[in-house]
Amino acid sequence: MDLKAVRKKARELAKGSCRVCPLCDGRACAGETPGMGGTGSGSSFMNNVRAWRNIRLSSRLIHKVHFPKTEVEFFGFQLKAPLLVAPIGGIAFNLGQAMPEADYQKAIAFGAVDAGILAGTPDAAPMEVMEIGLAQAQALGSGQTIPFIKPWEPERFIKVLQMCAKVGSKVVCCDLDSVGLITLRLMGCPAYPKDQAELAAIVEAAHRLGLAFIVKGVMGLPDAEACVAAGVDGVLVSNHGGRVLDGVPGAAEVLPAIAQKLKGRVKILVDGGIRSGEDILKALALGADAVMVGRPFAIMAIGGGREAVAYYAENLRSQLERAMIMTGCPDVAAANSELLWNGV
Ligand SMILES: Cc1cc2nc3c(=O)[nH]c(=O)nc-3n(C[C@H](O)[C@H](O)[C@H](O)COP(=O)(O)O)c2cc1C
Repeated sequence: MDLKAVRKKARELAKGSCRVCPLCDGRACAGETPGMGGTGSGSSFMNNVRAWRNIRLSSRLIHKVHFPKTEVEFFGFQLKAPLLVAPIGGIAFNLGQAMPEADYQKAIAFGAVDAGILAGTPDAAPMEVMEIGLAQAQALGSGQTIPFIKPWEPERFIKVLQMCAKVGSKVVCCDLDSVGLITLRLMGCPAYPKDQAELAAIVEAAHRLGLAFIVKGVMGLPDAEACVAAGVDGVLVSNHGGRVLDGVPGAAEVLPAIAQKLKGRVKILVDGGIRSGEDILKALALGADAVMVGRPFAIMAIGGGREAVAYYAENLRSQLERAMIMTGCPDVAAANSELLWNGV
């Protein structure tokens, strides 16, 4: 696949809403929300990318790791890599109407499954957005997407959970951090923070429907502990790609403390600024069980559809594999802080 041509086409179709920079780091699009940028100064998005770059891997070559294992189990799914495609919604107002929302969600969901991984699908004020995502889940079968649900009031939330269960979803995520999204407020449909009892009630409702439950937007220990106390099955360490609160750390900065407390108790995911297989290995070394990647997949979907999404996912997987050989890591499940350079 000609990635240069894919990127060129994406740049044209995005009509300036995404510059398709050589490194997607939030500088060119700072402050562009709606758009592809980080909110305000764009510092939270930039901190994401910078934080991964500031972590060093430890090169280690005297070992017997020839064919490292990148496959992982994820809530009953066998994934070819600990990688998922992050949900991106609002193609009309965030990506210059580069393609119809349904075509975008289809390219992402099917491209991910072609590559042996999974994608998240978005939610928004109009119910139609959730329905588009769930249509992909239904078409793929076996619940092969992860619906991301906004923190609506209980009645709408439970209704959406029931819709997810109906199409066979196995795991859902609530992007609790979208309470900070300007786009929701612009549409007059705000989502609200939950206290621990409210969160526990939602988790219980999901479990009753047979759905595992992840909370997105966990950026510190107090929320991490509250999520566990509320019975969640996973946390997604994320600042929502820097789109909801200016001036917060990069996800890589907060991941170690959360992983130290939560590892083995719930699944730990992380996203924001992950741009290479080496970044994925760093995340695993810091305690993540899997990562999500957002904007780079959006560029692939727009410029090259389902095939480019699958191609890009396989690229990241093979970069991860090479990084595992170069650090002597036999299995993603065995990744730990010894893979990171500690000065010796
Ligand atoms: C244009 C845009 C739309 C997004 N829409 C959603 C959404 O609907 N639901 C959600 O949970 N996250 C959404 N996100 C956040 C991503 O899922 C993800 O957390 C973030 O983009 C990861 O950072 P990265 O793009 O640097 O990899 C969106 C991000 C962007 C850039």
